[in-house]
Amino acid sequence: MAEELQSIKGTKAEIYESLIPQIQCLIQGETDFVANLANIAAALKETFSWLWVGFYLVRNNELVLGPFQGPIACTRIGYGKGVCGTAWKDRKSLLVPNVEKFPGHIACSSSSVAEIVVPILNSNAEVIGVIDVDSECFDVLDEIDRVYLEKISQIISINLFT
Ligand code: SME
Repeated sequence: MAEELQSIKGTKAEIYESLIPQIQCLIQGETDFVANLANIAAALKETFSWLWVGFYLVRNNELVLGPFQGPIACTRIGYGKGVCGTAWKDRKSLLVPNVEKFPGHIACSSSSVAEIVVPILNSNAEVIGVIDVDSECFDVLDEIDRVYLEKISQIISINLFT
């Protein structure tokens, strides 16, 4: 495992292209689910300085807060509730450029104005959790984040659930 992240300057896609192999190295050989998610959250936060990045995990038909970096957050989210619960229900990524325009958005922090949520699937294609990112800035989260966060979600699935 690398002792520290190598950060590069470049386009967002280039930064993700550099980060993803480092994330693979971080979790390679470690089977503990929580430890790996904690390091992935830290790597993403260190790289992108978003307001909040972390995981909610499906537990008894609810999403329960998992490893994260950022301000304290709500602990439980129901199926179909908020951005996270909707992404879980619809089984697809949800990019919300302006949270005020998303009915039912759950405001954990008044500083968050935009959000992206990406489901994580197990080997049976069931949602076992989500990656959630919150930004204090409009126009920061976009389709590039969706593409690469979906890759990271797949890496988590492949490495942790197969
Ligand atoms: N805004 C989310 C809740 C989780 S926090 O953003 C960390 C939602 O609407 O589901």
